[in-house]
Amino acid sequence: MSIDILKNLDIFVRARYPIIYITTFEEGRADDYLIKIGRSRNKKVISWSQTRGLMPAGGGSQNAKSISEGSQDPMSALDYVLASHEPAIFIFHDFHPFLGDSTVIRKLREISTAIKESFKTLVIVSPVLKIPCELEKDINVIDLPLPAAGELAVLLNKMISDISDNRDIRIDLGSEDRELVIQALLGLTISEAENVIAKALVKNGALDSGSVPVILSEKEQIIRKSNLLEYYNTTENIADVGGLDSLKHWLNLRRLAFSEKARNFGLPAPRGILMLGVQGCGKSLCAKAVSALWQVPLLRLDMGRIFSSLIGSSEENIRRAVKVAESIAPAILWIDEIDKGFSGMNSGNSDAGTSSRVFGTFLTWMQEKKSPVFIIATANNISMLPPELLRKGRFDEIFFVDLPEAAERREILKIHLKKRMAPYESFDMNALIEASEGFSGAEIEQAIIAALFEAFYKNDGLKCEYLLKALAQTIPLSKTMKEDIDALRGWASSRAVMASKPLELSAGARPRRRLEF
Ligand SMILES: Nc1ncnc2c1ncn2[C@@H]1O[C@H](COP(=O)(O)OP(=O)(O)OP(=O)(O)O)[C@@H](O)[C@H]1O
Ligand SMILES: [Mg+2]
Repeated sequence: MSIDILKNLDIFVRARYPIIYITTFEEGRADDYLIKIGRSRNKKVISWSQTRGLMPAGGGSQNAKSISEGSQDPMSALDYVLASHEPAIFIFHDFHPFLGDSTVIRKLREISTAIKESFKTLVIVSPVLKIPCELEKDINVIDLPLPAAGELAVLLNKMISDISDNRDIRIDLGSEDRELVIQALLGLTISEAENVIAKALVKNGALDSGSVPVILSEKEQIIRKSNLLEYYNTTENIADVGGLDSLKHWLNLRRLAFSEKARNFGLPAPRGILMLGVQGCGKSLCAKAVSALWQVPLLRLDMGRIFSSLIGSSEENIRRAVKVAESIAPAILWIDEIDKGFSGMNSGNSDAGTSSRVFGTFLTWMQEKKSPVFIIATANNISMLPPELLRKGRFDEIFFVDLPEAAERREILKIHLKKRMAPYESFDMNALIEASEGFSGAEIEQAIIAALFEAFYKNDGLKCEYLLKALAQTIPLSKTMKEDIDALRGWASSRAVMASKPLELSAGARPRRRLEF
């Protein structure tokens, strides 16, 4: 990845793109790349910040003098760029606040035209992407990817050699453990990785296989702090999901899809699935279980946060989230309730523009992504989803998760009764299955909990009769939302694959799924 970014930047510089905009929090890393390019192309590299003005990039001490008097002022710094004749790369750090000023914008347009004919390049490096529309055609944006395994390995080696004469710290990293440590660091910036390694060292007094869990839990915190993604530690297992056999079979077939063996066999990495369906029937549960089944990390993307103005611009948020997911890949990116995220697009309100831009960024990424990030999207309401998302080829499959049938309810009852150590072998399962017709998995679970409360109150064990009573007292969503569910089924019947076991046409079996109302 880092080689790619270096190559890309080099091409931009050689092709005389006048203004490049690198979005990143890692200013130092971006500078390093540009200094490397400057060196190899025989160009001076000069950096600017509002506090220090124009300085030679890299190595300049805090007391070093600015190379141009008064160049802290952005306009005079830009004048310097325009007037200078030498081949050079000018790096402007955190220039985004000045991109709202019409004089600065005008000056940048003039520079853009003028430096096309020169050997100068202006690079803006900032964590915030802000391009005024007047400059859209003059600026080319590059996203700095998070450090790849190779860069993290260099950091790790450097830190190990820095502490090699410290007798209080034990280093015991075989090549496999080393791989695991680097794998665990993926998704972090260089400085975050450095902090995390330091913390693991201090905590355990050693760098060994025991450092991996420390690093992982630190990473979890850091990713959570970004407020866009949640690193999920799943305890759910595929055996905790009752029914949905056809979906489970599909997932099981792809269990080793991200392995090297599968790649060598010529298998493409699966792209993703959309689970559409009735509330409380196990969509979120399945997403969590897949992570355990495939042994890949699960990252939950909060669509609401992507659009929250508190964090940053929505488009930048989605780019950042995708970047983290890619750097951790193979990973599952779980977008729960994707319908809610994109609902703004249809509303025709002022938010519609932002929503469609975010959506566009996301669709392009889905289309072009090469990294093994498997998307699991879930939705209840298809009317909210833009048709482009549902087009064949975006997802590997669209699964419809319906209310559980009798056999599935048996499994769900068993799973949840077993979890609560109820003596279900003595329960009248057929009566329970009948009483729970039209119930979702979540409603069955809730009825079991209600029955448990009654048993506890009566100082009794959980009995079948308590559960039958709780089921009888529940009005399932399938009754109150019958029209909505029917509409969803109608839509799904021709466009989605049933997540439950397909019915076999054996004696007594029904050729079509019977609606259970
Ligand atoms: N098929 C199932 N097998 C076992 N438990 C289930 C099943 N379906 C639902 N449950 C129970 O109900 C809980 C809630 O289900 P879940 O959150 O997965 O539903 P969902 O389909 O994501 O609903 P929503 O559309 O409202 O997000 C689960 O955590 C689980 O305990
Ligand atoms: Mg859910």
